[in-house]
Amino acid sequence: MNRDLRKTIIAGNWKMNKTPAKSKLLIDEIIPLCSGGGCEVVLCVPFTSLATAVDAVKSTDIKIGAQNVHFEASGAYTGEISAAMLKEVGAGYVIIGHSERRQYFGETDETVNKRTKAALSAGIIPIVCVGEHLWEREADITEEVVSKQIKLAFAGIDAAGAAKTVVAYEPVWAIGTGKTATSEQAQDACKLIRDRLAALYGKDTADSITIQYGGSMNAANAAELLAKEDVDGGLIGGASLKSEDFGVIIKAAMI
Ligand code: PGA
Repeated sequence: MNRDLRKTIIAGNWKMNKTPAKSKLLIDEIIPLCSGGGCEVVLCVPFTSLATAVDAVKSTDIKIGAQNVHFEASGAYTGEISAAMLKEVGAGYVIIGHSERRQYFGETDETVNKRTKAALSAGIIPIVCVGEHLWEREADITEEVVSKQIKLAFAGIDAAGAAKTVVAYEPVWAIGTGKTATSEQAQDACKLIRDRLAALYGKDTADSITIQYGGSMNAANAAELLAKEDVDGGLIGGASLKSEDFGVIIKAAMI
């Protein structure tokens, strides 16, 4: 983390968990754990829980996010949700290009780019996910894979847009597996992403962008990961559904 240069952001990715009523119960447990400041807390809940979640956090600093957004403004896209719809319901953030969407729902670097632009035009902060598969790491092409994902995700986005974007480095092999990247691996990848952003937008813009680590971040390993200079927060799946664990991670980010 480097709070002088950029925001520290701890985001929970609830994935396909929690009905609206259950979301409210979990948020009520999380609210008291966020006092103290020093980091932004974001809860990325299912679409159906957005309105409940926005209402539940209205007197707090917690922000609510979605987990996907369609890139078109409106029209015949049955089942899809636009950025304007998210904005009106009160979502401040949206996760884009999560590896589960790339793996199961045909997300590509091109659609990640289109969704990122749609979120930015609606005034929603995109959390753009990138990361390599295990076989890519083993073949020693992590740098190429992540650099390509960054370049394509940000294609056609200017420095002002980039400065409003959050990046999450999520090695696919670490997501939901209990296998966390070492703090050195996380730092190296987050630094690589910052260098790529600096090549595209200059050092000042790159230094201002929050780059999170995601992939089995938990109460036991968060402090060590967050101590790294270029790891500016976390995108947390499993541990964000357990208020006690999520609270420990938030505290680690506030130090
Ligand atoms: P995990 O998920 O913390 O359960 O590994 C992270 C993510 O998918 O964003």
